[in-house]
Amino acid sequence: MVEFSGKLPKASASTITIAALFITICAGSIMSNVSIYSSAFSAHTRLGEFIRRLNLGTEDDENLIIPVFKVTEAERIEWFMKKLPRLGFLEADTVAAERFHARILEFFGEGCRGKFYMTWFSPVKYFRRRDFWAMESLFKAHPDGCLLLISNTMDSMRGYRVLNPLIQRGYKVLPIFPNLPFLVENTPAETWLEMMKNGTKDPGVHFLMNLSNLIRLAVLYKYGGIYLDTDVVLLKDVTGLRNTVGAQSVDPKTRKWSRLNGAVMIFDKGHPVLLKFLQEFALTYNGNKWGHNGPYMVSRVVARLEMRPDHEINIVPPEAFYLVYWTRIERLFARPENGTERRWAEEVMGQLERLSYGIHLWNKKSGMLRVEEGSIISGLFYNHCIICGKSQLV
Ligand SMILES: *[C@@H]1O[C@H](CO)[C@@H](O)[C@H](O)[C@H]1NC(C)=O
Ligand SMILES: *[C@@H]1O[C@H](CO)[C@@H](O)[C@H](O)[C@H]1NC(C)=O
Ligand SMILES: *[C@@H]1O[C@H](CO)[C@@H](O)[C@H](O)[C@H]1NC(C)=O
Repeated sequence: MVEFSGKLPKASASTITIAALFITICAGSIMSNVSIYSSAFSAHTRLGEFIRRLNLGTEDDENLIIPVFKVTEAERIEWFMKKLPRLGFLEADTVAAERFHARILEFFGEGCRGKFYMTWFSPVKYFRRRDFWAMESLFKAHPDGCLLLISNTMDSMRGYRVLNPLIQRGYKVLPIFPNLPFLVENTPAETWLEMMKNGTKDPGVHFLMNLSNLIRLAVLYKYGGIYLDTDVVLLKDVTGLRNTVGAQSVDPKTRKWSRLNGAVMIFDKGHPVLLKFLQEFALTYNGNKWGHNGPYMVSRVVARLEMRPDHEINIVPPEAFYLVYWTRIERLFARPENGTERRWAEEVMGQLERLSYGIHLWNKKSGMLRVEEGSIISGLFYNHCIICGKSQLV
């Protein structure tokens, strides 16, 4: 186990505050090791999600809904092999790779205060106001930041239409169709990709989520910068953080982290720990098991790191990005109904604005919740929006 080494912004220096606050907000949920999905989703919905996710459209995503009820490994591989040509971004294509690389270099060459990345592997129409808000908050905190949105759908007319309100206002966001073979070239994930493509490995039901996990690691390894999930709202400038991941929970006794989360990852280009992540991804890939390589993989790898100077990373405490644990996240969306709740909300709001760099909204848990007027989220929205008029975050 590694002790916290990261620093929180300003007011957070006192560990007493941090400890007290952590107990207020996370008590009871810290030790929980139930995955978000295992309780909330049945196998049936997972399959539904799989089908929705594999609806890999570019422009005309509606036309590509293909109902596949294939659940055995062999059937999945067979289906995947047929689907491959449509995936495009798995194909080795030198010209496309060069163009991909050149676009990135050019984009980041414009003088960026912070190189940011997000990924989007769903149809454009699923990109909601709330996902857009995540981008707004990023630019509110970093007006001169550059955001590369790696996506199989957004690098299109329809995608540009969605991003246009930011582009028009001069914010630098570039949707880019990924080139996976290029990104994983000379990394431990190269063989993994080969095996995916030649059908010797099961892509699993979570293939696209896994792809997103892989791409964040690969892109950070190749270019360095700040990766964010689209359900992370940034509240402060994070460009002072280097080689950082956030703890989502802490052991109440030892005060050391018990689980890290990969929703925010900040790394220098070519960092040796990223290489460890990529190795772990390739070695232990199990696309059928939720959490295995996504959120929890980071914890596994970091827990095993040897004490070596080049393995040093910053682990920031939960207040940095995960102040409110996923089991309680719905409280942020509801209007406080009595004095007790109002006091709690004020306290949390204050803590967020003072202590936190950002807040992970755990979309898997909160995505369907309505944002009530007067809730913490609606308050945060008004403080961290760019296009604030149409306030309704659905
Ligand atoms: C599939 O790719 C892997 C990794 O490159 C290779 O070792 C394996 O021999 C290939 N299998 C087939 C059937 O082509
Ligand atoms: C695949 O995605 C699922 C869902 O996020 C995750 O639980 C699993 O660990 C991922 N596997 C890899 C190799 O990323
Ligand atoms: C305040 O409202 C919450 C949720 O509606 C409820 O659980 C709690 O008991 C209420 N507290 C008081 C003091 O009324």
